Amino acid sequence: MGIHYWEQENIFELRTERSSYVFGVNEQGILQHLYWGEPVEARECAPLLAIRTHSSFDNDLNSDQAEYGGRGGGNYAEPCLHVHFSDGVRDLKLRYAGCELVSENRISIRLSDDHYPLRVELGYTAIPEVDLIERDVRIFNGGDTPVRVIQAMAASWTLPPLRDYRLTHVTGRWAGEYQLRSQPLSEGRRVLESRRGFTGPHSNPWFAVDNGRADEETGKVWFGALAWSGNWKITAEKSNFGRLHVLGGINDFDGAFELGPGAVYSSPVFTGGYVSGGFGAMSRNLHLYQSRYILPGGRVRKVLYNSWEATGFAVNVQEQKKLARQAARLGVERFVVDDGWFGARNSDMAGLGDWTVNPEKFPLGLQELIDEVKGFGMDFGLWVEPESVNPDSDLYRQHPDWVYQFPNREGTLLRNQLMLNLGHPEVKAFVLEFMTELLDSYDISFIKWDMNRTVTEPGAFPLAEHAGDSVWIRHVEHLYEIWAELRQRFPQVEFETCAGGGARIDLGMLRYADQAWISDNTDALDRLLIQEGFCYAYSPSVMMCWVTESPHGMNGRSLPLAFRFHSAMMGGLGIGADIGKWSDAELSEAARFVAQYKKIRHVIAEGSLYRLASVREGGLAAGQYVSPDRQETVVFAFRQAQHFGYSEQRITLRGLDPDAVYSMEAAEGLTQTLWHGSTLMNLGLPLSLSGDYASRMIHLQRQPAR
Ligand code: DGJ
Repeated sequence: MGIHYWEQENIFELRTERSSYVFGVNEQGILQHLYWGEPVEARECAPLLAIRTHSSFDNDLNSDQAEYGGRGGGNYAEPCLHVHFSDGVRDLKLRYAGCELVSENRISIRLSDDHYPLRVELGYTAIPEVDLIERDVRIFNGGDTPVRVIQAMAASWTLPPLRDYRLTHVTGRWAGEYQLRSQPLSEGRRVLESRRGFTGPHSNPWFAVDNGRADEETGKVWFGALAWSGNWKITAEKSNFGRLHVLGGINDFDGAFELGPGAVYSSPVFTGGYVSGGFGAMSRNLHLYQSRYILPGGRVRKVLYNSWEATGFAVNVQEQKKLARQAARLGVERFVVDDGWFGARNSDMAGLGDWTVNPEKFPLGLQELIDEVKGFGMDFGLWVEPESVNPDSDLYRQHPDWVYQFPNREGTLLRNQLMLNLGHPEVKAFVLEFMTELLDSYDISFIKWDMNRTVTEPGAFPLAEHAGDSVWIRHVEHLYEIWAELRQRFPQVEFETCAGGGARIDLGMLRYADQAWISDNTDALDRLLIQEGFCYAYSPSVMMCWVTESPHGMNGRSLPLAFRFHSAMMGGLGIGADIGKWSDAELSEAARFVAQYKKIRHVIAEGSLYRLASVREGGLAAGQYVSPDRQETVVFAFRQAQHFGYSEQRITLRGLDPDAVYSMEAAEGLTQTLWHGSTLMNLGLPLSLSGDYASRMIHLQRQPAR
């Protein structure tokens, strides 16, 4: 396990529990990728270092296995690094220049240009128990003239030659995020990216590749996820000689920047992994990785109530108090006031940027509501959107120069707001200051940080001063710095990342966020699709899901309360309905679900997720969570429609101890309540789901050994 280096053969291996990742240096001094997959004897990869050519059209076949290829010479592939030197040379020749074993699991490989004082450091960290490798790059300009960086990728993942490659990823849009797609890759490039200034709902920075035959439980899968919340790009390029490279990093779209003399560029981390147990194993490794290495806080989520869908912008202290009283009756633990509590924010037309409590809505200030909420035994949370401003706001009137803008161009209004240039030091200081004041002044336990527009006119004021940098990058860096600072100043506060739904969730943001709002679409059936796609890469422990009204405002679909609760209980449970209008019967049914959720939420947050049946297939959808000690498991099953009078169904479970006996707490119509793990995993658990939109949650606990 860990890092191995064979000096004589010039071969490096990152060995995890179930994988080998091997690269080496060829006789021309070029770093070559050699192997990634099931563990092998790394030194036996040495013959792959041989120099290969094909014809004058493909002279340098070794570039097809470059570990970190530069744009130069006969390398025409998508480059990891593309620079322009100040004398006009646009050609890079990177050769191996040494290595440093930083720790048992981390190595840094130095590359340098043949002529120019440009140095590249490739960082590799092996994470053995989850078979993952973190990669990043640092680029040093050791010269006395600036270098223009056209593209600098964090890493390139080279897959072994497979007869077929299939790419799996997510796509979507507002209210329809995280939709799974997969397609065969033939020769050429397939690009996944965001150009809008943030992670985006249209795509998300992770990928998976297999040979077209892997499924949920079997098959080899190679995958990766990039820790960047701004413009990102993942390019899968299959060469004409059969190799697939997947490169990822900050997008070069409008993104070239200058690296001054002595300056260093550090890329985001691009984490890659290999599993032989199908897409399910991939997701479980990524979830465990996030729990152990990425996420900042505790996993178990408080049940929250958020008043956005109930009140919209019409927030006022009396209404909120009523909602808080109802929420407390349900067993809610955190009451969150969303948009509309500040400035002249009566609609999305005005007030954004003015972070003072609206005196008409809260004549005695916010404390009155906080006291009430706390009196009910709940904690208090608040919504903010610090990166935007309405032109109709005091902030904009005072600082019109703080928004992204170009001279001679009208700023594009989206949701009636402009985007603040967070890269500007004064804007960063302003955001930190108002957030600090807010959190200092009130007993706030939770912040939902929203962001509701894309970046347009990405110019900075004054333009000339910022000519050399990428405003795209600085925005994200400052965002991370602000979140890190706030977390440090207010360790008791939990943070949620939200961007008009789930448009800013990635491994970068999850280093600072306790939880994530994954979509503004709260229709429980659509949510099953969105949640399934989300959990391919991201942990259910961060996935916030609300129970809202039926019929649902977005699709007009009516769903039973049980279906809505069960769908939302698969992540962090929230309630977003107008509970002031719920009947006593609905309230007591809801309170029962909340109580049930509190009994199982540790399994959702800390357990392993097995996708038993996909909602994408239309019939039965089922997901199972198994606690780390295999003492407990929770199964959720949903049937969209019953057909032909037939409702019998069994579902085979996974991840249990075959010899243990598991029992069900509430039999709910079943005659049998005790099963061996082996029976549950082979014969299956009987489900009694009858009728349309039927759902169940089944909690099984291991019987103590006799
Ligand atoms: C978009 C978010 O996703 C919603 O949950 C809500 O907070 C609104 N913004 C408020 O403007």
